[in-house]
Amino acid sequence: EKGGYDHFMLKEIYEQPTAIRETLSRNLDDNGRVHLQETVQLTKEDFEKINKIVIVACGTAYHAGLVGRYVIEKLARIPVEVDIASEFRYRDPFVDEHTLFIAISQSGETADTLEAMREAKRKGARVLSVVNVVGSTVARESDDVFYTQAGPEIAVASTKAYTTQLVCMYLLALFFADLNVAISAEEYDNFVQDLEAISGKLEDVLKMAPEIEALANRLYDRDQVFYIGRGVDSSVAYEGSLKLKEISYINSFAIAAGELKHGTIALMEPRTIVWALATQERLFDKMVSNIQEVKARNAHIISLAQEGNSEIEAHSDEVFYIPRTKDELTPLLSVVPLQLYAYYVAKAKGCEIDKPRNLAKSVTVE
Ligand code: F6R
Repeated sequence: EKGGYDHFMLKEIYEQPTAIRETLSRNLDDNGRVHLQETVQLTKEDFEKINKIVIVACGTAYHAGLVGRYVIEKLARIPVEVDIASEFRYRDPFVDEHTLFIAISQSGETADTLEAMREAKRKGARVLSVVNVVGSTVARESDDVFYTQAGPEIAVASTKAYTTQLVCMYLLALFFADLNVAISAEEYDNFVQDLEAISGKLEDVLKMAPEIEALANRLYDRDQVFYIGRGVDSSVAYEGSLKLKEISYINSFAIAAGELKHGTIALMEPRTIVWALATQERLFDKMVSNIQEVKARNAHIISLAQEGNSEIEAHSDEVFYIPRTKDELTPLLSVVPLQLYAYYVAKAKGCEIDKPRNLAKSVTVE
């Protein structure tokens, strides 16, 4: 049932190009326009009442929400907040009938996400959920359900659910951008084209697996790993860090690169590994300065950049390149080397990858 792979996690990592294609094809028409699946009923009139979007989730799904905020605000020009479900529920948030509440959940059964959603409903919000499991509780209680087409995700560590959640964020951003007349026809078409090209590029990223495995076999015994980035790279940093800690039990930490010098850089030591995500063209020079700061403390730097930015090699111990795409779309590519790194480190350490200690696939208690 693992289709020839050693673990479900690896199988699911490799299923991502297909899962992304499925999620796109369910929600794009033949003219390359977003045409959301019929379980999303939100109309232009409904949308006109909305003055703010609140995205709530836990764990990996929350990390997808962080990218969602970035792209929805950028493309659709609507204020977006993102919160962790267990925080949102207990903070008496500003939510009313002019709020669109978006819950993101692979399982659709996460207790905190469900309760946060019920709280938003009580306050009058319209609730749209991004869910993988058909007929789950979150799906049943939502006004609109946007299904990720990831297929069943068995490994506890989420991979293809995350990337399909990202695809839903991009599709929602385009859908809202169109309703809000915030994007030109040309930008819209261009974005859709780049989105459709992603799964092919992801297939190229997967070819890095042997190199990442070799790196993991060399570095698996290090006990401190940092993930740094700016813009959407900071959101991907959180996800990469979570993947590593949950399956390899290595103490890892993610931080927005600009925050390093406000305290965390004190932790840098020669055996520290730093994954420096530098895929954002707009912020590339800023990231290079941050990399120099940590390099000066003799940390071991593994950089990730878009093809062509080879000047980063002068400041890094290793560099992996992702195919070129829009800054907003890089998370779909850049998360994959981080998933593979976590996987191969855990494998080198002999960990139980598909069922890590202390974790359950669906967290139905708060
Ligand atoms: C991490 C992971 C968890 C889940 C979180 C939310 O790999 O899988 O962080 O993302 O428990 O679960 P769902 O998406 O089912 O609500």
